[in-house]
Amino acid sequence: MTQTAYRAQLLTFREDPAHAADGAVYEADCLLIVEDGKVVTAGAYASVRDQLAADATIHTMRDKLIVPGFIDSHIHYPQTDMIASPAPGLLPWLNTYTFPTERGFENPQIARETASFFIDELLACGTTTALVYCTVHKQSADAFFTESETRDLRMVAGKVLMDRNCPEFLRDTAQSGYDDSAELIARWHGHGRQHYALTPRFAPTSTEAQLEACSTLAQQHQDVFIQTHVAENTDEIKWVESLFPRRHRSYLDIYDHYGLLRRRAVYGHCIHLDDTDRQRMAETGAVASHCPTSNLFLGSGLFDFEKAGASNMPVAMATDVGGGTSFSMLQTMGTAHKIARLTGHHLTATRMFWLATTGAARVLELDDKIGTLAAGSDADFVVLDPAATPLLARRTSRTESLEELLFAFALLGDDRAVFETYAAGKRVHARDTRKTAKLELAA
Ligand code: GUN
Ligand code: ZN
Repeated sequence: MTQTAYRAQLLTFREDPAHAADGAVYEADCLLIVEDGKVVTAGAYASVRDQLAADATIHTMRDKLIVPGFIDSHIHYPQTDMIASPAPGLLPWLNTYTFPTERGFENPQIARETASFFIDELLACGTTTALVYCTVHKQSADAFFTESETRDLRMVAGKVLMDRNCPEFLRDTAQSGYDDSAELIARWHGHGRQHYALTPRFAPTSTEAQLEACSTLAQQHQDVFIQTHVAENTDEIKWVESLFPRRHRSYLDIYDHYGLLRRRAVYGHCIHLDDTDRQRMAETGAVASHCPTSNLFLGSGLFDFEKAGASNMPVAMATDVGGGTSFSMLQTMGTAHKIARLTGHHLTATRMFWLATTGAARVLELDDKIGTLAAGSDADFVVLDPAATPLLARRTSRTESLEELLFAFALLGDDRAVFETYAAGKRVHARDTRKTAKLELAA
């Protein structure tokens, strides 16, 4: 295979910038060398140019900034077509829009077509890996994985488990949910770049028998992911209290009881946790997925970065489309910053870029593969354009530090700031020729 190299500015991380002042590594003149879908090396042009093969193709874009591909730690692909649906809070929103929309994914054609559009949208926003909820139908997961694999993306997804408190047409059973999940794990987990996530929707829509079955699967498959929702909304929490007769200490404690707190278990929202909950998250390595645009849109509450940090609870960031109002991790960062401000915390852009890239890869135990651009890792990266819009161009021409540059991207950026996206070394999105997500794959 021949090498392809990219000469640009580069941002990577050696450590969480919240803990290490030199955690972020910025290279003004960098060469990223890619071969066979993997990173050969990324470093200062002057120091790595001699690793370049004689026949390498070099793309020079010195005014652009390369960052590792964004990682969205919580998103629902079947909710693509109902994004921005008005409702007075989570539970009415689920009943009015979400459940009727998810019904359609019984149809494999609808599932495949939506998965394709959804992935185009992720790539246009620079997101190369996401933790994705499908619907209760196993064919919705097959459609998603097939689409992801066709484009050679690293994705994590799972069929939703829900056997009560939802419309009859969306129910599985403890047994069928177990069987379908086991079948999907066998078919997809570790197949190419695909990973499976056990996906109980949330405690209210699973019987104890279903949570037990999920627990068994989790024990049988120690390296699969687990994803669910917790402590998002105060009405939801009251409902959970009334549903679980065996008095649990807290909402999170229900999942703990079933052995679902562990590494690679990702909990959407985590707004209304208490200190004991946070401590359990930290002890078990379970990850809190912060979904800022969704939390504002549904009026769910304000995630507390100060308390999350004090507890050492692992944290990642997410859009939560369609509760979230944007596919863009840049927009998500901008909103996260504003939520943090409202709770008296200054969340830097440098930290948010960490949380959306290397930090997420680390807490998901994928950092040997993605999120770093280290030698040997997958060549999944984004090329950001500081002059994407007239306003961004004016602002970034005056920024005086890396933090100011990243802050401008986080507060003013969206899909327009994503010049190109690469996955496994292939260009999978080019902004200036939109709708070309299958560009090089077809070649
Ligand atoms: N809780 C249970 N299901 C959902 C969902 O689809 N979106 C959000 N935001 N919260 C949920
Ligand atoms: Zn969600």
